[in-house]
Amino acid sequence: MKKAIITSALPYANGEIHLGHVASTYLPADITTRFLKVNGTEAYYFCASDDFGTPILIQSEKENKTPEEYVKVWNKRDLEDFTSFGIGFDFFYRTSSPENISFVQQVFKKLQENGHIYEKEIIQFYCTIDKKFLPDRYVLGRCPYCKAEEQYSDLCEKCGRVPEEIEDPKCSICKNPPTKEKTRHYFFKLTNFADDLNKWLEADSYLQRDVKKYVQNWIKEGLVDWDITRDMNWGVPIPASTTGQVFYGWFDNHLAYISTALKFLNDRGINGKDFWNDADIYHFIGKDIVYHHYLFLPAMRIGIGNEFKLPDYIPTRGHLMLQSKKISKSRNWYIGLKDFLGIYPADYLRFYLALITPYSQDDLNFDWEEFASRINSELIGNIGNFVNRALGFTQKSMAGVVPGTTEFDQSDKDAQEKISKFSSELAVLMQDNSLDKALKKIIEFSAHFNQYFQKKEPWKGGAGSNNCILISVNAVRSLAISLYPFLPESSQKIWVQVGMDGLVSATPWNSMSELAIKEGHKIGISSPLFKKIEASDIEANKAKLGK
Ligand code: MF3
Ligand code: ZN
Repeated sequence: MKKAIITSALPYANGEIHLGHVASTYLPADITTRFLKVNGTEAYYFCASDDFGTPILIQSEKENKTPEEYVKVWNKRDLEDFTSFGIGFDFFYRTSSPENISFVQQVFKKLQENGHIYEKEIIQFYCTIDKKFLPDRYVLGRCPYCKAEEQYSDLCEKCGRVPEEIEDPKCSICKNPPTKEKTRHYFFKLTNFADDLNKWLEADSYLQRDVKKYVQNWIKEGLVDWDITRDMNWGVPIPASTTGQVFYGWFDNHLAYISTALKFLNDRGINGKDFWNDADIYHFIGKDIVYHHYLFLPAMRIGIGNEFKLPDYIPTRGHLMLQSKKISKSRNWYIGLKDFLGIYPADYLRFYLALITPYSQDDLNFDWEEFASRINSELIGNIGNFVNRALGFTQKSMAGVVPGTTEFDQSDKDAQEKISKFSSELAVLMQDNSLDKALKKIIEFSAHFNQYFQKKEPWKGGAGSNNCILISVNAVRSLAISLYPFLPESSQKIWVQVGMDGLVSATPWNSMSELAIKEGHKIGISSPLFKKIEASDIEANKAKLGK
């Protein structure tokens, strides 16, 4: 059996999950995992809260909580929100777990043994007013590369690079210019890995070509060794150190992909390390963390002797815009996942986001009007309508029992052929990460069967009516299987309505291409699957933004 491990970027335990997070990362990863599982892969989807780092420490200080208490709250809340959105993690853990902490420390020791770590005295920003060192988010300034203002010293949001030294620095707490103090730090020799990284980027044909290109450009411009120590006490402690320093959050967080997988698999009696190395490894991310996933992460894995294989896929997608504007929490220009799910079913959002999210770095746009029209016309007007029509008619005219057929005419044969090609045509798109195109294909499939039903006019009771009923009921069944990765809840409802036993999630992908429903099959009770979205509600939803 094929194996796969799927992860999505670990959310900072620092504020609620919103639509921007789920569109590019969690939903595509969830759809892919569900697909792989029904398509015969032993697949596991792992995630964790990203608990360390300066923003979390800063925020917990503001709220007068210990950072431990603070991240615990968000870890729990994130998992609840993800779960109500139908994100089916096999395991959601945390970067501050004992397993991750000890794994990170082991990795550090191995990197040290292998000559990839050195110590150096550096000059670090220090705030004499706040009396502390100012790593990362504690300092704001101008990006030395693209000159964007108001960037944090650990990542430029404009150009995506990690500034070597931010210009015109200011303390992010009190806004005064910091002084500089000496401190000793560990460095990871990223510069050792330029050749290996290039080779891997060349060889891995599953990586997106355009992302590869700009990462290779960064390598050409020259990599910079990476300061992995922070002068604070919230983080993974540096082994055998008496300074009270910790590792940088980006040193430990991605290692939780591995430590979380090992914990889950080993607890289940599976050899986690063997499984990892036999599996296809997928890391789903948004384009803001390309640098970390295409350079740091693989370099560290190579640095410990390739004990855990490099990713095969790093599906990287663009940012979600909201009503064509950049999402901003401070300006209240965002939609919390929990709030959204208080108004509409998870499957509405999954349907719309999957449809508008391409497999590329292009930004995408959530638009309330478009959301309503896509749900009303495509999910309800097309898919819901076909399911209802086919099943409703079978109920009414045949007392819910599928009739026997006569010889198929051309349109029956075409319809049958559509069904028989459906699973493999869709699988190609799913494997290729073109989830939006796959969903469009499903919509097309449904539209075809709506027309087929319309043309055959079974309500007139003509010669081909029974063929039409049997084929249409089978098409409904195929739709349920194909929609399962996208709409786990609604697809199960369709499954029950069409009279199938058990779970659609336990049904092999390929079986959507069979005419499995035969004469004499009794369908379930059909009822409307979806409720239309009202224009007046959309106005109300829009009015909440920016307030
Ligand atoms: N928490 C990080 C962010 O939101 C992502 C971490 S992904 C990891 O940008 F793998 F590196 F952990
Ligand atoms: Zn200050």
